[in-house]
Amino acid sequence: MFDVTAIRSDFPILNRTVYKRPLVYFDNGATTQKPKIVLDVLEKYYLENNSNIHRAVHHLSQQCTDAYEASRKTIQQYIGAKKVEEIVFTSGTTESINLVAFSFGEAFVNSGDEILISYLEHHSNIVPWQLMAERKGAVIKTIPMNEKGELVLDDLEKLLTKKTKIVTLGHVSNALGTINPVKQIIEKAHQKNIPVLVDGAQAVQHMKVDVQDLDADFYVFSGHKVFGPTGIGVLYGKEEWLENLPPYKGGGDMIKRVSFEKTTYADLPLKFEAGTTHYIGAIGLKVALDYVQSIGLNAISAYENELRLYLEKALNSIEEIKIYGTSEYKAATVSFGLKGAHPSDVGTLLNRLDIAVRTGSHCTQPLMEYYGIPGTVRASLAFYNTKEEIDYFVESLKRVIPMFS
Ligand code: ALA
Repeated sequence: MFDVTAIRSDFPILNRTVYKRPLVYFDNGATTQKPKIVLDVLEKYYLENNSNIHRAVHHLSQQCTDAYEASRKTIQQYIGAKKVEEIVFTSGTTESINLVAFSFGEAFVNSGDEILISYLEHHSNIVPWQLMAERKGAVIKTIPMNEKGELVLDDLEKLLTKKTKIVTLGHVSNALGTINPVKQIIEKAHQKNIPVLVDGAQAVQHMKVDVQDLDADFYVFSGHKVFGPTGIGVLYGKEEWLENLPPYKGGGDMIKRVSFEKTTYADLPLKFEAGTTHYIGAIGLKVALDYVQSIGLNAISAYENELRLYLEKALNSIEEIKIYGTSEYKAATVSFGLKGAHPSDVGTLLNRLDIAVRTGSHCTQPLMEYYGIPGTVRASLAFYNTKEEIDYFVESLKRVIPMFS
């Protein structure tokens, strides 16, 4: 039974007032709020158990190591990975993508090779590939989009050439909420033996993801967008790919043996976890994922979809508003423009009414250029949001509109 009142009571921040009224937090695409049990476990580990992992035989170190490795196991199960060794902790989605772009580039990309990127991407799934392409003399190609904010796959066969080394795309667009047909794209790429990286930063908090069912070669996400701590993230990679990539960063924990003549590297996944990771963050992430699963991802998807349709219906009834991203397949994000108004002015006014939304290009400048707009107002919802909050949001927009006419 999905009980939003009970859920909201798990998130202390949702009770706070910003100016005069209780916070309406519609900026979940940027980061999600944390349930108290996540905050409690962070505090407990710093207060009572803190000690560096994988480095000592003493009790505290063993406790932290066990909890860290238990988190890896939870993540394996959360995304349906075959092996726990396929789960690498990083600082977040951006680092996960940079890791793959660098290491994959070093191992497999040569001058004239092509990297295929979807048009809907966040800058963090564009720039790391550009850096690698510049270094290796490779070429970036794009999968185009249409007015609805969907990828156009008509020419995908032609875009996947003999020179294509990897395809990279988001599971869910952060700016528009479009759910991309990743399984279909992966299937097409695999027919030509081309691996695919999926950026799941905006997906894992909204829907059940199964990396084996998708057959993704790499899948990445951030802890802070799935109700966990900041500074911790995940790279999933199929074992055979991770085995064949060189390390990204050198340091402690990622080595087997070091000498000045030659160093050998640790087995997976530690080969990619140089230095002291944010191990307490990883422990907090486990609690967050357990919490999400206790509500149930199917229940979350159904509830959020209802919220999104409710919001879209209300916005569509306002003449001055235009929604960007009108695909039938969407997660709980609604991006829009208000006639005659700059998005950041709308955001500023909404802020005074205690509403938090993100405004601007959402780190997707090519996508905004496609629409010929500087940005949008983005309401990105989570399972703790309510129809009452949406009513207040829409009412507030109606108060704001006359200020621009
Ligand atoms: N990538 C985050 C967003 O879409 C920050 O807001």
